[in-house]
Amino acid sequence: MNIVLGVSGGIAAYKAVMIARRLVEEGHDVHVVPTDDALQFVGKPTWEAISRQPVTTSVHENVAEVRHVALGQEADLVIVAPATANTLARMAAGIADNLLGTTLLATQAPILVAPAMHTQMWQHPATQANAAVLLSRGVEFIGPDDGRLTGTDSGPGRMSEPDQIVARALEMLRRRGVEDDLRGVRLVVSAGGTREPIDPVRFIGNRSSGRQGVAVAAAAAGRGADVVLLAANIEESILADVRARENVQIVTVTSANELKVVADREAGTADVVVMAAAVSDYRVAEVRATKMRKEDVGGEHLMLELIENPDILAGLARDRRPGQVIVGFAAETADDQQSLIELGRQKLARKGVDLLAVNAVGWSEGFETAENTLYILAAGGELISTVAGTKAETAEGLLDSIVAKLSTAG
Ligand code: CTP
Repeated sequence: MNIVLGVSGGIAAYKAVMIARRLVEEGHDVHVVPTDDALQFVGKPTWEAISRQPVTTSVHENVAEVRHVALGQEADLVIVAPATANTLARMAAGIADNLLGTTLLATQAPILVAPAMHTQMWQHPATQANAAVLLSRGVEFIGPDDGRLTGTDSGPGRMSEPDQIVARALEMLRRRGVEDDLRGVRLVVSAGGTREPIDPVRFIGNRSSGRQGVAVAAAAAGRGADVVLLAANIEESILADVRARENVQIVTVTSANELKVVADREAGTADVVVMAAAVSDYRVAEVRATKMRKEDVGGEHLMLELIENPDILAGLARDRRPGQVIVGFAAETADDQQSLIELGRQKLARKGVDLLAVNAVGWSEGFETAENTLYILAAGGELISTVAGTKAETAEGLLDSIVAKLSTAG
C-alpha cells in the first residue's frame, strides 16, 4: 500500500525513522514528506535510504509530476509523526505552503496523527481546539503519551512509541482492506493479570502486561466490533492504544472474583468472549484488614492459606448461548511445540471452549515482549492456524479465526 509519512520539526523526528523502516519491512511503499524544520533534525539522505524513495519537501520540485497533489491522491494512508503544535495548527487551518500541507489537503485517505510537543503546548487551548477540529474531521490521533520529554521534564506530550504507531497504521490500512467484518458484533475481552490481596498493601500477582488482550480489543475495534475490555491491572501507557476509541468501553477490575462478576454480566449480551487475562487460580483465604508485620508472623516460615478461585472461562463456556463464541488463552511452558500444543489440547477439553489460543511462555518469552506466536486450536483439538508476529498481528490472526467461527456458529 502507499503510505505518506509526514514528519514535522520536533526532536521525535528521529523516532519517525523507525516508523518508516517498519512500514517498509511490512512491504509498503513509504513516501516521506518532511517539513524544512524536520530536516534540521533528520536529514534527507536518512529518509531516502530508509524509505528507498526520493524525498522532497518543496512543491517546486518535480513539478511535472504534479507531486504536490499526486502524493496525497495516491496515498492509502497518511501518517503525521511527529506532529508539532505548529503542524496541528496548520492542518486545522488548511495551510498549504509546503509539500506536507498540499499533500494533506489533496488526500482522501485516512490520516493518523502522532503529536509530540511540550506539555504546556499540548495543553494550550489553541492546540486542544486544533486537535478537536481535526478529530471532528475524522483525523485519528495516537498519543501523546505521558512520559519523559526532551529535557528533564516529563508529562503528556511525548510521541507514542514507533511500534504503537505502526500497529495503529497497519490496523487502519487493514480496516480499509478487510471491510468491517466485525461490525455489529459485541466482543468482550479480558486482559492483564488479576491481583489477589494479602493485606492492604500486598498482593499475589503475575507478569501479564495485558498487551495481547489490549491488542485484541484494538484490532476488534478496528474491524468494527463494539468492544468491552475488562482490564485487570494494566498500565495506562498500554491502555492508551484503546482509550480514545469510541467503540471500546474499558471496565477495570483487580481480583479474579471481581473479573468473574463483570465477565458473567458482560457475557450475557456478548457474541464473542475472549479471556486473555491471566487469572489467579487461587486467592488468599483470609485477607488481613491491616498490614501484616513480621513480628505477627514470627519465625522463618510464613504460611499463606490459599483457596481456589472459580474458573471464569469454564463457567462462560458451560453457560454460553447458542451461536456465542467463547475463546480462551493458554500460556504454557513446554519443551517443544508439539508438547505445547498437546498441553493446549488438554486445556481446551477441560474448559470446553470454541477456540483456544496457545502461546509459549518462559522466563524470557511471552510476557513483556512485543512479539508472540499463537497456535489456535478449534473445539475438536485441531490446529487451525498458527500466527506469529507483533501482538497486533497475532490479534488480527486470532480475529480471523473468530470471524470464521462466528460464520459457522450463527
Ligand atoms: N481462566 C479463567 N479463570 C481462572 C483461570 C483461568 O477464566 N480461574 C482462563 C484464562 O483467562 C485463560 C484460560 O482460562 O483464558 C487458561 O488459563 P490458565 O491459567 O492457562 O489455565 P488454568 O485453568 O489456570 O490451568 P493450569 O493453571 O492448570 O495450567
